[in-house]
Amino acid sequence: MGWYKTIFEAPLRGKTVLLRTDLNSNIVEGRVVVSSRLREHAKTIYSLSEEGAKVVVMSHQGRKGDPDFISLRRHADFIKKFVDKNVNFVTWKEDFIGTIKKMDDGDITMLENTRFLDIETQEKLTSAEFSKATPIKELSEVGDYFVQNALSVAHRNHATVTGFVKLKCFAGPVLERELVALEKLDNKNEPKLLILGGAKPEDSISVLGSMLEKGYCNEVCLGGLFGEMFLHAKGTKFGKKDKFLQEKGYAKVEGEIKKILSKYKDKIILPVDLGASNGGEHRQEIHLKELPTEMDIMDIGRETTEIFKKKIRSAKIVVYNGPMGVYENPSFSIGTKKILETIAFGRTFSILGGGDTERAIFALGLLPQDFSHLSLAGKALLEYLAGEKLPGLEILRQ
Ligand code: 3PG
Repeated sequence: MGWYKTIFEAPLRGKTVLLRTDLNSNIVEGRVVVSSRLREHAKTIYSLSEEGAKVVVMSHQGRKGDPDFISLRRHADFIKKFVDKNVNFVTWKEDFIGTIKKMDDGDITMLENTRFLDIETQEKLTSAEFSKATPIKELSEVGDYFVQNALSVAHRNHATVTGFVKLKCFAGPVLERELVALEKLDNKNEPKLLILGGAKPEDSISVLGSMLEKGYCNEVCLGGLFGEMFLHAKGTKFGKKDKFLQEKGYAKVEGEIKKILSKYKDKIILPVDLGASNGGEHRQEIHLKELPTEMDIMDIGRETTEIFKKKIRSAKIVVYNGPMGVYENPSFSIGTKKILETIAFGRTFSILGGGDTERAIFALGLLPQDFSHLSLAGKALLEYLAGEKLPGLEILRQ
């Protein structure tokens, strides 16, 4: 690969490895929902321990103020079960440095949620400043290597992502797998189709703009709230849904959407019909010319689904992020299901990302191995694809 080193290239026995994972999970009624993220990072923890490294695991969970901003104690229990080894969990209030110093070869220690530390999210600080701040400084003094294992946090300039620059920095196998898959997209001559959906268009609109600008994708199919906002910007009056679009922050993104539409209108494929509900399970197809409606818009329509499918079949590379509608409801999962099936069963090289995407894949009876690469990252994946520099990857260049 050249620009970064991977951890299994280094001597590991007796070395203290500070491993930045991303165990950030869905929390339902206080329980951690086990996902590929947990399983994949657990495999790295196991392998490092088997090689005789002293493994110090770090991760965040949730964001300050949100209900999922909880301790990593339960995550540690899961890792313990998965690797079938003891995992010593230690909070920031305990003597975590002393605990690390006492570790034997192969031992595993998991530190508490990194976002419980105020320093973690001081995004304005530089790597050098982070490296001198507590506890990054003290951890650096007891560590031999820093390993970044998660693309999904690499877009954050956070203390435990970019602060360990005094140590030798390596990529872990989970990150390496992501980078190897994404390298395929560097060949700009291949036609690339981007399919974006989901309910948080604000996160991805600037990324979409820069991908089109740089020629990183040649066509874009938009579904979900994303597509609806673009239709709205073109003058479509939905009726009941208009208010919802405003609540979801349409005003904030309108300017950017209009700019993208005026520059790249031939590259953007929008829904021509929608799947709607009167409040019940019954699905009704509504063509754009039948709008406005007081019905709830829940999915892209069947005609749109066929148009998107045709685009997928003729693309060599498909990048997919976010569902086309309310896939949790079987009547309105049709768009998401058919699109995912077309990607899965075709010959297209596919990269999928976003937490909702993995859930949708399982809910609709598909499997991660049906796709070329299912990324564990969401926003970081899109930023990477837009050619932005991710601070968590930049430190690996040193
Ligand atoms: C994610 O779930 O995308 C990552 O864990 C990053 O979380 P964040 O958006 O809260 O930084």
